[in-house]
Amino acid sequence: MNHTLAIIKPDAVAGGRTGLIVAHLERAGFRLLAARLLTLTRADARAFYAVHRERPFYDSLVDFMTSGPCLPIVLEAPGAVAKLRETIGATDPADAAVGTIRRLYAESKERNAVHGSDSDANALREIGFFFAERERR
Ligand code: RTP
Ligand code: MG
Repeated sequence: MNHTLAIIKPDAVAGGRTGLIVAHLERAGFRLLAARLLTLTRADARAFYAVHRERPFYDSLVDFMTSGPCLPIVLEAPGAVAKLRETIGATDPADAAVGTIRRLYAESKERNAVHGSDSDANALREIGFFFAERERR
C-alpha cells in the first residue's frame, strides 16, 4: 500500500503550523493526492475514532478534534503507512524522536498536531471516510 491518511489537527491549524507541516511531509518524500480544510462534526469525530470509544480520553479527544478546522490529506509514498508513522513520531511529543513532526510542532499528548493511519486496512477506511475516489486520483 502506497497511500495513507494524515490529518493536520486543530491545534496545528489554529496555531498557523499547517504550511510547515505540509512542507515537512513533502520534504520527507510524500506526494499530496488530496486535501480539504474542514471542521469535523461530533458525529464525524466519534466515528473516525470509534476504536477508542471505551478509552478515558475519548470525550476529550472528540472535543479537541471538533474545536476548529483540520486538514485531512491523502499521501503517496512507497510504504506510506509506516513511513508516515515514522515521520510524525510517538503519540506524546515528549516521547517523539528528534526531528519528527510531533516533536517539532505538537503541544501535548492530546493536542499532537497530526494523525497518521496505523495500518493499511485503516488507511483505506480513513481515506474513504474523507474523500471520494474521484478526489484522490
Ligand atoms: P492518531 O490516531 O491521531 O494518529 O494518534 P496515535 O495513533 O499516535 O494515538 P492513538 O492511541 O490512536 O490515540 C488517538 C489520539 O487520541 C489522543 N490521545 N490522548 N490523553 C491521552 O492519554 C491521549 N491518548 C491519546 C491523541 O490526540 C492521539 O493522537
Ligand atoms: Mg491512532
